[in-house]
Amino acid sequence: MTDTEIKDNILTMIIAGQDTTASAITWMVKYLGENQDVLETLRAEQLHLAEKMSPGQFLTLEDLAEMPYASKVVKESLRMASVVTWFPRLALQDCEIEGFKIKKGWNVNVDAKSIHLDPNQYNEPNKFNPSRFNDDSKAPYSFLAFGIGSKNLPGSEHGESHDASLPSSSNHNMWKVIDSDSSIEKWTLFSRLKSGCPVQVTCINHGKDVTSTYGSQ
Ligand code: HEM
Repeated sequence: MTDTEIKDNILTMIIAGQDTTASAITWMVKYLGENQDVLETLRAEQLHLAEKMSPGQFLTLEDLAEMPYASKVVKESLRMASVVTWFPRLALQDCEIEGFKIKKGWNVNVDAKSIHLDPNQYNEPNKFNPSRFNDDSKAPYSFLAFGIGSKNLPGSEHGESHDASLPSSSNHNMWKVIDSDSSIEKWTLFSRLKSGCPVQVTCINHGKDVTSTYGSQ
């Protein structure tokens, strides 16, 4: 590989791998903070898994199979937040999609956010409801959090496993969102919350609780 290709690959991994995961986890914290019942169900699943593990044992990819509810929480957070809001594609030839004529060389954007919030695809789309993923009978291409087609996120369970680290950390920590303004800065690729979603975390694992505050307001 040339130096330029190496730099390009490193940048791709940093932006594609890090910003996406950080953004997804921030949104998940926000949604869980607003939906304590979901957080409780999630915590119960994680505690159940923790009981089966020996002290100091680390989670593995296989353990994801033991976290069906966490997986739905990740999916629902990614649906609501649409971390990668749209993906551009270059038309390689003239074509027609549902009556729209597209010329070779045009840039076409797949608008994932509009699809994720389309009431024809998702009942009450602005409601955070992980249970909507109970059945897998979603219309094809209605869930695009990890992209679609040949540029689909390589190994989407990898992205999901990063996000599952948040649910699993809820075994040891309680957090409270202390955000006076939970609106977003602006809708963009990797949209951020205006205040960065500050939280107060209490460690509950050592008998004596220790509270710390993270983020800025
Ligand atoms: C929640 C976490 C993540 C989300 C939501 C996410 C989302 C996506 C989406 C939507 C695409 C397709 C873009 C397109 O079609 O144009 C994509 C591609 C990609 N993702 Fe992720 N991703 C996540 C985590 C990661 C991680 C952890 C890595 C690497 C360690 C990664 C590496 C990549 C790469 C290299 C591509 C480009 C594939 C290509 O162009 O052929 N992503 N991701």
